[in-house]
Amino acid sequence: MTGTEHPAAVPPHLPNGPSPDQIMAVAGGYINARMLFTACDIELFAALDAAGATAAELAQRCGVPERSVRIVADVLATCGILELNGGRYRNAPPAEAFLSGRGPLDLGSLLRYWDIVSYQRAAAATMAVRTSQGVPCALDAGQVEAFQQWVAFATAQGAETLAAAYDFTDHRRVLDIGGGLGTMVLPPLIRFPHLTATLIDLPEVVGLARKRLAASPAAGRIDPVAADAFTDPLPAGHDCILVAHFMHLLPPERNVALLKRLRAVAAPDTVLLLVDWWRHWDGIPPAEAVYGAVEFLLISGGDTYTPEEAGQWLGATGWQATGWQPLAEPTSLLIARPRGSG
Ligand SMILES: C[S@@+](CC[C@H](N)C(=O)[O-])C[C@H]1O[C@@H](n2cnc3c(N)ncnc32)[C@H](O)[C@@H]1O
Repeated sequence: MTGTEHPAAVPPHLPNGPSPDQIMAVAGGYINARMLFTACDIELFAALDAAGATAAELAQRCGVPERSVRIVADVLATCGILELNGGRYRNAPPAEAFLSGRGPLDLGSLLRYWDIVSYQRAAAATMAVRTSQGVPCALDAGQVEAFQQWVAFATAQGAETLAAAYDFTDHRRVLDIGGGLGTMVLPPLIRFPHLTATLIDLPEVVGLARKRLAASPAAGRIDPVAADAFTDPLPAGHDCILVAHFMHLLPPERNVALLKRLRAVAAPDTVLLLVDWWRHWDGIPPAEAVYGAVEFLLISGGDTYTPEEAGQWLGATGWQATGWQPLAEPTSLLIARPRGSG
C-alpha cells in the first residue's frame, strides 16, 4: 500500500505479471476525494488546532458521531492529509495551509465546486464521451458563484501575464466576451489607465462581477453588461475584443458562430485576442489542460483546441490569425484581425 490507495486495493497479484495496484489506486481515489469533501463540509480541518484532537473531541467540535468522524479522519490520515499520533489527529502542513481557513490560501471554494458541480456532472461522463455533448445541469446561485470563483482562481495568473506580455497602448475600448468576474480584463485596465472596457456575461454572473469590480481601482472604467453572446445584440465601437477561456467551453460549430458574430461588430482596426488553453504541446499536455478538457466536455461539449483549429474557424469567419504567443502555462494568446485589414 502506498498510503493513497483504497483499502480494498489488495487484489491477487499475478505471480510474474504486471501489478493492478495503479488501476486500483486510481479507482479508489473517488473515496479519498469524497471523504475530503465531507471533511470540508463538517469543518474538520478548521476544528483541528495545533494541539490536535482525539476522535471524541473532533466528534464534539464537528457535531457528528465519534464513530463516523474517526472513519473520515482515518482515510485522510492514510492519504497524508491528517497526521495521527498518540490517538490525536492533527492537520498535516498542507491541510493547515490550504484547508483550515487560517492559512495563506483557502481551497474551500475550489473543492466545493468540484464536489457539488463537477463530480455531479462526471457521474454522466460516459454519455458525454459517447456523444461529445455536455451534461445539462441547472446551477443555483451558490453553484454559479462557486464556478466563478474557481474560474477566477484558475485564470488569475494568465491575466497578469496577458497585461505584461501584450501591449494595449494603441487600444482604447476593450469588449470582454464571457468576461466572468473580470479577472482577465482587470490587469490590462490597471496597467493601461487610458483603457475602458465593456464586459459581457450572463445576467446571473454580471451581478457578481459588479460586486467584485466595485472594489477595483479600475471600477469606473469597466461597464458590466448582462447579455447572451449568441442571442443578444453585441455592442460595436470597440477596437479590441477579448475572448478569454470561453471558446474551450464550446463545441467547434458554436465557436464558428461566435466568431461570425464578433466579426459583424468589428471595425477594420479591431484586434481580436483569443486567450485560451490552446493545445500546442507535444506529448501529454500539462495536467491543468488534461483535466480541463474533461471539465469543458462535461460542462457544454467543449475541449482544449489547437491553434490550427482556431485558425480554420477564424479563416472561415472573416478573420485572419496574425500571431500566437505563450502566456502563463497552460494559457496562450492567439491574435487575429479582420481579413484584408492589412
Ligand atoms: C470559463 S469562464 C471565463 C471567464 C473570464 N473570461 C476569465 O477568463 O476569467 C466563461 C464565461 O463565459 C460565460 N458565458 C457562458 N455562456 C455565455 C453566453 N452565452 N454569453 C455570455 N457569456 C457566457 C460564463 O458565464 C463564464 O463567466
